[in-house]
Amino acid sequence: MRVLVTGGAGYIGSHTCVELLKAGHEVFVIDNLSNGHETSLERVRLITNCELQFTNADIRDANALDKIFNTFKPDSVIHFAGLKAVGESVANPLMYYDVNVGGSVSLLTAMSKAGCNKIVFSSSATVYGKPQYLPYDEEHPTNPVNPYGRTKLIIENIINDWTEVDTNRKGVILRYFNPVGAHESGQIGEEPIGIPNNLMPYIAQVAGGRREHLNIFGNEYDTSDGTGARDYIHVVDLALAHIGALNQNKLDMFDVLNIGAGKSTTVLELVSNFEEISGVPIKFKYLPRREGDLAAFWADSSKAFEKTSWKPERNINNICEDTWRWQKLNPNGYGIK
Ligand code: NAD
Ligand code: UFG
Repeated sequence: MRVLVTGGAGYIGSHTCVELLKAGHEVFVIDNLSNGHETSLERVRLITNCELQFTNADIRDANALDKIFNTFKPDSVIHFAGLKAVGESVANPLMYYDVNVGGSVSLLTAMSKAGCNKIVFSSSATVYGKPQYLPYDEEHPTNPVNPYGRTKLIIENIINDWTEVDTNRKGVILRYFNPVGAHESGQIGEEPIGIPNNLMPYIAQVAGGRREHLNIFGNEYDTSDGTGARDYIHVVDLALAHIGALNQNKLDMFDVLNIGAGKSTTVLELVSNFEEISGVPIKFKYLPRREGDLAAFWADSSKAFEKTSWKPERNINNICEDTWRWQKLNPNGYGIK
């Protein structure tokens, strides 16, 4: 298959490019490098010993997209490109609607013109909002509580409407839980800009000596040890879920799949696992709860297991080992920021 990957120079996109190339697909990446790195694509070539094409362009640039569709003629699109910082989306919602929603409309328009009928889209568990029951399954009501989450739900609905127009079209929505980890080669991984917002890169930077201590947001939640609990999914397992979503025929014209490990891990459990794997003590301090945080959530991903041949194979130990290898080999990520 020829696959166009939007946002392929980013964290999840680069890992997915590796798995696509390994599975024998041809890959074209469009990325404006607003949060991605061309070096990550060089590393993808290194890991796979395969070529991939790349254009530095914005998905809102209709001409750039048309050119790719006319020359590369992709069979499918995997759509990662977008902005993902919750706090930034609250401060600048219009930018999020413009890039995420506007970008997706621009992409679907180019696909329609070119007769490209299949899209796999990166959504998020954040679309569910406050849990009415756990684990979340795909039938759980959606009620995102910030502009970022609302852009994801709007795009899901747009893709649904787009598939209704033509029976040849297919839209697969993957609702990711908490993607973490890095490629086992240590060549590609997550490079947060500035101070990490998310737990795993923060722990890795404390272990690597780049930050003094971890702030744990809340220790009185209704969880086993009082700290927040999440469903951490290894980024390579997540990448493989996209191959599953492209390959199989059991999916409906429009389908939504949860992609998680189905198990929750608390902040303290993750810290102690990381200490054991790295051999480095992680200093931490308790701070009050972070605004908007939920106590715990995890996925029922049985629909994805049943409808695709996918199942996560990597556990929390693998996640810590691979994150630590990436951190040690690339203490400043792909470059100086
Ligand atoms: P990332 O920022 O590393 O990757 C996104 C890529 O898209 C970047 O390389 C960026 O340069 C590119 N991009 C952004 N706007 C663009 C535009 N207008 N045109 C072209 N390229 C553009 O993020 P990621 O963690 O790899 O996330 C990928 C997708 O998965 C995003 O849509 C994100 O919302 C979604 N997601 C991520 C998480 C997570 O925790 N990482 C969780 C749920 C969903
Ligand atoms: N946490 C800390 N200290 C930190 C960072 C996080 O204690 O420095 C805690 C949080 O309070 C939470 C847990 O670690 O209990 C996980 O927090 P993350 O920020 O790593 O992840 P979230 O679950 O808050 O959010 C992430 C993405 C969202 C996405 C969601 C579900 O940032 O965009 O997963 O996919 F919507």
